[in-house]
Amino acid sequence: MYSEKFQASIAAVEAAREKNIAMEPVRMTAEQKETVLASFHPDYKADEFAVLTIGPNKGDKVPKELAEILQAHSRITADSVDLSEPDYETDVLVIGGGGAGASAAIEAHEAGANVMVVTKLRMGDANTMMAEGGIQAADKPNDSPAIHFVDAFGGGHFAAKRELLSKLVCDAPEAIQWLSNLGVEFDKDEDGTMVTTHGGGTSRKRMHAAKDYSGAEIMRTLRDEVLNRNIPVVDFTAAIELILDENGNAAGAVLMNMETKELLVAKAKTVIIATGGAGRMHYQGFPTSNHYGATADGLVLGYRAGAKLLYAETLQYHPTGVAYPEQIFGALVTEKVRSLGAKLVNKNGEVFMHPLETRDVTAATIIRECSERGNGVETGNGDGIWLDTPMIEKIGGEGTIMKRIPAMWRMFDKYGIDIRKEPILIYPTLHYQNGGLDINADGMTTNVKNLFVAGEAVGGIHGKNRLMGNSLLDIIVFGRSAGKNAAATAKDVTVGALTLDHVARFEKEIADAKIETETVSPKLLPDYTKKR
Ligand code: FUM
Repeated sequence: MYSEKFQASIAAVEAAREKNIAMEPVRMTAEQKETVLASFHPDYKADEFAVLTIGPNKGDKVPKELAEILQAHSRITADSVDLSEPDYETDVLVIGGGGAGASAAIEAHEAGANVMVVTKLRMGDANTMMAEGGIQAADKPNDSPAIHFVDAFGGGHFAAKRELLSKLVCDAPEAIQWLSNLGVEFDKDEDGTMVTTHGGGTSRKRMHAAKDYSGAEIMRTLRDEVLNRNIPVVDFTAAIELILDENGNAAGAVLMNMETKELLVAKAKTVIIATGGAGRMHYQGFPTSNHYGATADGLVLGYRAGAKLLYAETLQYHPTGVAYPEQIFGALVTEKVRSLGAKLVNKNGEVFMHPLETRDVTAATIIRECSERGNGVETGNGDGIWLDTPMIEKIGGEGTIMKRIPAMWRMFDKYGIDIRKEPILIYPTLHYQNGGLDINADGMTTNVKNLFVAGEAVGGIHGKNRLMGNSLLDIIVFGRSAGKNAAATAKDVTVGALTLDHVARFEKEIADAKIETETVSPKLLPDYTKKR
């Protein structure tokens, strides 16, 4: 139910609805895209970035908030933890209990390794659980991994590491089969064919979904599999520092019980960082669609141990975060809403862009429509743009919303807005960390041996912008592969004496560079008591 102040604009949207459904918005040219990105995308705001002065990426620019935690003090000192009697010993240590960590654990276990998972919250408390729209895979007759590659490579500004993107698209059809065999209930036609839709920047319909709670369905299945295999999971226990051995290879982690703050030592032959994203860093003050624990921990752990970052300066602002009502400000409105036909409409009822341009371009164009062009709707909490959801029922037939995006209906219904009948207000929200730790095709970091990374903590799979549905895909493809490779590598590893010398070295770098900071990292949880 919208208050009086929205009614005139809603009336304009309703009056133009039939015309807007019929019109085919033109695609932007490459030049138009570059122009709008350069002027309005948050990644292009030079004063929001800082240059790193220490560590493997010295000289590179990253968001100011990330620079602060990368160049921060450790939560421990190198000599304050007794490494001589580890609390846990395992072949493969998985840090993170989301989709990538679970996939890695399952495959490492399948390969016969001893594996354990540590997670700072609970298994499944992760961005995977919150993913809505779906997972891409080129498994239809009119599609191919090569076409999938071209879409994703272009969407990522031709910056993806080719070997990683190639693995992503080639392993995708098998990933869908693996999930299906584990029990994921993908949407299917009556004849059993999987239903697929478009996402922004896709030239074929290859988005497989479980309505609009695809991530929850996938995470439910993966978590069950981890538990059914009796893989040990240590909940509410964060990794706060990696442990290396005397040869400089990853060999475990210092853990902290989130409640008691007790420190524990896990020794491992190989380590997999699967700590997820960074939305709760609230870069540039943006709200986020992300899980409570998304604080870039893996980047901090890896960086301090000497692992390089790739594209840490690029973030993804999902074009359609909730702009109103305030209670769900920043929550994700899945791109699938636009795939099903809803268009982006300004306060005057005008369609101002094609709804399925790539995410960075769509977000920047929405920001321009609100700022430069003054065509946003004042929500009481900034501006918003209408996403005309009733179009979906008109295009797909009555019942489409309840059948295909019931979670969206429920999210707004709680606040008296029926998205079948009324449009909704959206604005970009911080959604995804495009950059992360640099890995090779086996999933191992390029410069710390026996340290693997999977999921959102990886940089380079998608280049500088990710297409919808390629993240649920990468957590499965690279999670599984990291698990298999970490297990295989562990067979030949003899761990040398454990050390935290790198923590002392990093602390010295901070001092030598005269960085004055009281910040300690990893952050682990956002602090909403501080005024932004
Ligand atoms: O819009 C969405 O459903 C988000 C999907 C994704 O980030 O891949």
